[in-house]
Amino acid sequence: MEKILVHGGKTLEGKVRISGSKNSALPILAATLLTKEPCVLQRVPDLSDIHYMLTILGRLGCEVERASGVVRVTAESITTTAPYDIVRKMRASVCILGPLLGREGEATVSLPGGCVIGDRPIDLHLRGFEALGAAVSVKSGNVRVLAQDLHGAEIFLRGKFGSTVLGTDNVMMAAVLAKGTTIIDSAAEEPEVVDLANFLNKMGAKIEGAGTRRIIIEGVKELHGAEHEIIPDRIEAGTFLVAGAIAGKSVTLTRINPRHLEAVVHPLQEAGFLFESGDDFLRILPGNSRKPLHLEAMPYPGFPTDMQAQMCALLATTDGISVVTDHVFPHRFMHASELKRMGANIEMNEGTAVVQGVPKLEGAPVMASDLRASAALVLAGLSAEGITEVNRVYHIDRGYERIDEKLNDLGAEIERVKA
Ligand code: EPU
Repeated sequence: MEKILVHGGKTLEGKVRISGSKNSALPILAATLLTKEPCVLQRVPDLSDIHYMLTILGRLGCEVERASGVVRVTAESITTTAPYDIVRKMRASVCILGPLLGREGEATVSLPGGCVIGDRPIDLHLRGFEALGAAVSVKSGNVRVLAQDLHGAEIFLRGKFGSTVLGTDNVMMAAVLAKGTTIIDSAAEEPEVVDLANFLNKMGAKIEGAGTRRIIIEGVKELHGAEHEIIPDRIEAGTFLVAGAIAGKSVTLTRINPRHLEAVVHPLQEAGFLFESGDDFLRILPGNSRKPLHLEAMPYPGFPTDMQAQMCALLATTDGISVVTDHVFPHRFMHASELKRMGANIEMNEGTAVVQGVPKLEGAPVMASDLRASAALVLAGLSAEGITEVNRVYHIDRGYERIDEKLNDLGAEIERVKA
């Protein structure tokens, strides 16, 4: 096992190239199951979650080739059962259910367990499959979906905490090969859903409205192979913006889509940071003053839950009282107690973090609990006094491509050592 040592107090300056989106690449890789023909994906990030998904595809019988960001998958003949030993490693493996059901009329996948960011049910995914005509059963920890004929349906996908991203993806992937028209109401509007719909359309699907709350899918008989470049990772980009805010003189993100980052840029502007932008870059510069924020994480186009922990790290040293609520994963605040070990003043009050800014954090040994929490701890270490030791860094490698190297290229001093 490895740990990361962040030597605080260095100033960040320069350019960082943002990788392809993890949360786009995962369902898009699953979508390659929908055709027997080869699919070629570019800008696939080198992450452990991607590795798990490629392993799952391999175990299902796909031929998988990978070379520097390009992945080629051929799902000529596949099986439809994904066993627990591989599925348990990553919750996003549920998104193979939709394409397997769409193409083969059946799938058996081990149920994902809960995780530290909260209870993560898949009831909405299953409700969608049932509406399309599938029989759903859950037995011995496995979910089985079975359908003679999938047919189009009108499906309402909103749950207690808003819509569901992977649920929308899953239903969309099952519906592309169903007979007739499917309408997903209250669909997730995230850019990653749009990227998947664009890929499916390149494969011959007929999907309209992705990126809005109403997606209309006209079923087709079959799909063919396609080539596609994954969109830039807006959460990795947002994380580097916050790194720039915490410790930067001038940090420029390249190869990004600034439109996907508005909900992160806006509060940072409100907090006093200055921005310069172009079609595919964004630069963050310090302003004259820093202000506390009231932040509420919500589904897109709201402020992303996946950026909430990183913002808490910034607000920990922002003078005044900030209030942070997460409406998507209300219990996703494991980072708060770790930040407190570094001297942050954070009180949790019924799913809301009240952050009273302190002048400086102090380096300390801390424990990463999940992907974004671990990023937050690394960011907090950038401006902390002394050394911050982040343990369980495998969490960070699930979703950030070489984050330590990229931060070091900007001037940080981060080491990765054996734990
Ligand atoms: N929910 C239900 N029932 C369902 C599905 C979801 O109640 O059937 C609830 C969840 O418990 C949560 C809310 O709905 O409270 C939203 O969950 P959603 O289904 O949208 O999450 P997801 O699709 O499983 C994706 C990302 C997450 C990201 C969320 C929200 C991927 C692989 N994962 O998860 O990313 O936080 O959307 O934007 O796309 C991360 O990258 O760190 C990460 C956790």
